[in-house]
Amino acid sequence: MASFLITGSSRGLGLALATRLASLPSGQVGTIFATARQDNSAQLKELISASSGRVELVVLDVTDKKSVQEASRLVEQKLQGKGLDYLINNAGAMDWNPAGVEGILLASAASREKKSVINISTTLGSIARAHVYEQTRSPAYKITKAALNMLSVQYAQQYASEGFTFLLVSPGWLQTDLGGSRADLPVETGAEKVVDIVLKTGPHQNGKFVNIHVPGWENAKGNNFYAGEEVECGVSEFTDKYLMVTALLLRVLATTRAKLGVANITGVLAVEQNILEILLLKVGALEDILKIGLGKT
Ligand SMILES: NC(=O)c1ccc[n+]([C@@H]2O[C@H](COP(=O)([O-])OP(=O)(O)OC[C@H]3O[C@@H](n4cnc5c(N)ncnc54)[C@H](OP(=O)(O)O)[C@@H]3O)[C@@H](O)[C@H]2O)c1
Repeated sequence: MASFLITGSSRGLGLALATRLASLPSGQVGTIFATARQDNSAQLKELISASSGRVELVVLDVTDKKSVQEASRLVEQKLQGKGLDYLINNAGAMDWNPAGVEGILLASAASREKKSVINISTTLGSIARAHVYEQTRSPAYKITKAALNMLSVQYAQQYASEGFTFLLVSPGWLQTDLGGSRADLPVETGAEKVVDIVLKTGPHQNGKFVNIHVPGWENAKGNNFYAGEEVECGVSEFTDKYLMVTALLLRVLATTRAKLGVANITGVLAVEQNILEILLLKVGALEDILKIGLGKT
């Protein structure tokens, strides 16, 4: 019976993950440590009291070192030397260091088979998809998730030889306090699909970043689709080309202006128009950036 620890289970996705796990057969899912920074969530209390001892509350503020140490001690004690199988880092706020929340798993899971850390990320933190989310103005959120992605890869490299699996999961745009009511999916759907991924986690996924799979959403219109695909954390071929062509274009424009001089504005515009037409023919999808580069919008 596998054991689980979820951070930030008082509400939102964390609570839904604990609820989903608790609904699965006890042969598959054993103890669920639903952690929360305060013991004040009526919904979590309800889940705990209906769970016949399977869901246990552990008070844990992931940004407070003392709280992390206390929670770690308590969880180890409760597991009686059996170690934790799955750590789900769901709370958005995190203090990232090996003495932080990972410590709970790293210290206690040595004897376990699973040893998996699931870091809840978002496609908004993928540099490769930055162009898709240009209009979503939340730079700080995107940056912290991009950092989480890189950190997860660092842990994956560092602990691979000890059999740990670090996997990043994007849970979809969910109707929670954070996601808002206009979000794509009910939080229960996101939780169900994340749990599907968690239960299949294996060392072959170490260091990867995956999206949930929601039938019917594989080719959805708009920015979000949920096809269970691997998400690129870093710069993609598209972003590479995008940056390369933009840099090239800006260089050509600077040279043109220097050569023709601002006095010959008709000549400058004619050359810019030619460059635009040539490049648009060759690079189709880069049309918008080229237009912006030329001040045509
Ligand atoms: N919702 C979405 O559309 C969406 C999309 C992609 C990724 N995600 C990610 O999914 C995760 C959960 O998001 P959510 O939508 O469920 O957010 P949420 O509804 O705002 O819930 C956040 C949870 O994190 C807890 N928390 C905050 N600071 C904490 C701390 N210092 N220590 C421990 N717990 C803390 C909160 O506890 P309190 O009740 O005590 O405040 C609450 O339980 C986040 O990592 C988020 O980035 C969400």
